[in-house]
Amino acid sequence: MDKAKRRTVIAGNWKMNKTARQAAELIDALIPAVQGAGCDVVICTPFTSLPAAVEKCKGTNIHVGAQNVHFEANGAYTGEISAEMLTDLGVEYVITGHSERRQYFAETDETVNKRTRAALAAGLQVIVCVGESLTQREQGVTEELVRLQVKIALQGVSAQEMQRVIIAYEPVWAIGTGRTATADQAQEVCAAIRRVLAELYGQDVADATTIQYGGSMNAGNADELLAKADVDGGLIGGASLKADAFAAIVAAAGK
Ligand code: PGA
Repeated sequence: MDKAKRRTVIAGNWKMNKTARQAAELIDALIPAVQGAGCDVVICTPFTSLPAAVEKCKGTNIHVGAQNVHFEANGAYTGEISAEMLTDLGVEYVITGHSERRQYFAETDETVNKRTRAALAAGLQVIVCVGESLTQREQGVTEELVRLQVKIALQGVSAQEMQRVIIAYEPVWAIGTGRTATADQAQEVCAAIRRVLAELYGQDVADATTIQYGGSMNAGNADELLAKADVDGGLIGGASLKADAFAAIVAAAGK
């Protein structure tokens, strides 16, 4: 495995946090803190903060993403946001399939696939989240489950489109719990994801795809996780809400 073949990406998932004004303040602090980073930096803000975030991040090394996107282009889908609405604002990235969306908003592998395809068709870069629950890990089905999630999420996605796909491995039991997967556990599943990508698209595409770990990643554990051969970055929740904590992870990734 050659890490030089792929981008290291640290993405913040702000979840349902920060008003537009608070977002602007955090970005003001982030800009100098991550300037000159040795990895790609993304912040995924709530929809309401996207215009301010795009405006502030212009001319900086911070890229802006959304946390969800609907699969239809327009129509009677109350409360939803289309991919074109995002690209029109200047948004470059979107997260699909986050476990909180699956858990609380009834998203399925099928809708994750539809959202992913719609986002790719609109030109967005997509961070596709997969991961097992604690029960599933205890049942010993983690690898099978994650393979299935990846395969369904990527149905109909071309090898060329894979250049704009990042896979985030996020064990549900590690999200927001302070309980991080060990670096070996993260590596094991990220390597399994790369194997399934190789089956689907060939080794070159698999080697070129960024695979992030997410779940209670912070300044203290980032080094060890990112040192693993198949961990190419992080999707950061809680620690992305403070500029210094997020910048410390970005610094670890840039080493
Ligand atoms: P956490 O969230 O870093 O707060 O565990 C990660 C995520 O849900 O993307």
